[in-house]
Amino acid sequence: MELYVLRSKEEIGLEIGRRIVERVKQNPYIVLGLATGSSPLFTYEAIVKYSLAEYVSYKNVTTFNLDEYVGLEETNKQSYRYFMNENLFKYLDFKKESHHFPSIENMSNYDEEIKNSGGIDIQILGIGSNGHIAFNEPFTNIDEKTHIVELTENTIKDNSRFFKSISEVPTKAITMGLNTILQSKEIFLIATGKNKSMAVKKMLEGKYDPSFPASCLNLAKCKVHVYIDDECYEGIK
Ligand code: F6R
Repeated sequence: MELYVLRSKEEIGLEIGRRIVERVKQNPYIVLGLATGSSPLFTYEAIVKYSLAEYVSYKNVTTFNLDEYVGLEETNKQSYRYFMNENLFKYLDFKKESHHFPSIENMSNYDEEIKNSGGIDIQILGIGSNGHIAFNEPFTNIDEKTHIVELTENTIKDNSRFFKSISEVPTKAITMGLNTILQSKEIFLIATGKNKSMAVKKMLEGKYDPSFPASCLNLAKCKVHVYIDDECYEGIK
């Protein structure tokens, strides 16, 4: 694992965005694994900015998102597909059919689909303060591939801030498993702010602890770049 400490979440976005756009230029057929949430927002903004400035095409790029709620249409503002359209896809020349989101219908084939498209070249990840990655909560089996999860009461409560009422929050989601994520060829994990300090500290301990899913990245055979901001670093020192 390589740790990079940058001044702010904006700088992290610019740095990872630049690295990813360079990679797309080198390999126009690249396969990207994408996360939602607040952590990758500046990265997506930077990807758009650099790609438009340098006329980089995404017409041959394939994307696989980490996770998606069950039961939300893509027109629902809380769906992850809607998030990706609004924050990245709609600005670039992606083909609609190049985007993949896990669902009840495709979950048993999702890992196979990833493999058939050549595997994920670059996976972007956020991390939860309890160490979750995607919707893999503590004690998720490390061999798990893409699967359905019942959201815990805590997660439903946390996520209810994005919905009109708690009863609208889906109770299930489909997520890539830890095994799926570990097959990636390169991983960029973003963690900013002091509420992520403890999680990053634990992940950097260097060993796998099933109660802390993100620590499985210590077993990854690929390069794992961990980007944090000063605020997050302050809480680790
Ligand atoms: C999102 C995802 C989640 C988030 C995590 C951190 O697709 O898989 O695991 O990465 O909950 O969320 P933020 O970035 O909002 O702090």
